[in-house]
Amino acid sequence: MAATVVSNKRVILKRYVTGLVSEDDMEVVTVEAPPLAVPAGSKTVVVKNLYISCDPYMRNRMTYHEEPSYVPDFVLGEVLVNFGVMKVISSGHQDFNAGDLVWGITGWEEYTVIDNPETLFKINHPELPLSYYTGILGMPGLTAYGGFFEVAKPKKGEYVFISSAFGAVGQIVGQLAKITGCYVVGSAGSDEKVNLLKTKFGFDDAFNYKKELDLEATLKRCFPDGIDIYFENVGGAMLDAVLPNMRVAGRIAACGMISQYNLEQPEGVYNTICIVTKRLRMQGFLVFDFYDKYYQIEEQIARYLKEGKVAYTEDVVEGLDAAPAALVKLFTSSSIGKQLVAVAREHKAEHANFI
Ligand SMILES: NC(=O)c1ccc[n+]([C@@H]2O[C@H](COP(=O)([O-])OP(=O)(O)OC[C@H]3O[C@@H](n4cnc5c(N)ncnc54)[C@H](OP(=O)(O)O)[C@@H]3O)[C@@H](O)[C@H]2O)c1
Repeated sequence: MAATVVSNKRVILKRYVTGLVSEDDMEVVTVEAPPLAVPAGSKTVVVKNLYISCDPYMRNRMTYHEEPSYVPDFVLGEVLVNFGVMKVISSGHQDFNAGDLVWGITGWEEYTVIDNPETLFKINHPELPLSYYTGILGMPGLTAYGGFFEVAKPKKGEYVFISSAFGAVGQIVGQLAKITGCYVVGSAGSDEKVNLLKTKFGFDDAFNYKKELDLEATLKRCFPDGIDIYFENVGGAMLDAVLPNMRVAGRIAACGMISQYNLEQPEGVYNTICIVTKRLRMQGFLVFDFYDKYYQIEEQIARYLKEGKVAYTEDVVEGLDAAPAALVKLFTSSSIGKQLVAVAREHKAEHANFI
């Protein structure tokens, strides 16, 4: 009897991107799925993708670089790859079994063969919504926790400013800063987000950066005594406005600079002399720096979620057909919380209205 052919819907890169990424830069196609059983002797796993994450750094991978970037460019005509939540459907690797729930790098498609399953993390809290492993319990949570505690090194009572504070990383950093006993202010791109930062996420203050004509003066108003820690997600004009507002011996944890990702010519930053005069430490980091601490951090954040000490907001779209538009939303301030795509819903906890 002939084997049943399984189809595999996927999102591919149609053309390299210049300027603002658009839906037309990607295409949703259907191809034949790979064999769903791994061949004997193979150390690969085959996964069914349940949720895939939309993350700002994907924009960098959509540009063609003459010189290698810190992550490889996507390949034209090939499936996009990024973090996702998956169920293992067959495994040739000793550490994985069919039915395991995992998160890590996968394809923007229904089924993916993963050649290096040792890069995947096991999901230890399936009682929490699985989609959280694209965000607060996954890569953005690890980034927020590691960047805040290991790079910014906060102390109780310090003044903390977070840009893109309603994003996946920012909303977590703000709440960790409040748990630490800091004074916390965030910026976001709409009044609705500003309001939620203050009501749902417990920020002491927040402002809509799109409505402020003089960001340096706004920050002076929010921090009359200056900023100890700037958690940098935006770059450009915001970084320039922050520098004169930093306190002596302040720290800038440079997580990302989303305002620059769609520009062909990056903006200049002019107030860099403040790094000298205020004896600042500005340090970049990548989430991989904290991979070895993931399971400890997962436990801590899962505990906070269960105790109701942190809130979380997601923006979920349904199905791979909606994925290209969802990615574009990151760059138009249209996402309300962590942006992700539900590819297949089949787990008991995933409809849970946890928070
Ligand atoms: N270092 C690492 O390993 C690492 C890991 C994860 C993320 N990151 C970086 O961390 C930052 C936040 O990531 P995320 O996952 O939290 O983002 P996210 O949830 O995808 O949110 C992105 C938000 O950025 C804001 N934004 C977009 N364009 C902007 C612009 N031109 N100026 C100011 N704000 C803009 C928008 O919100 P508004 O409504 O506020 O405009 C948007 O909703 C990004 O820079 C990302 O690249 C770094």
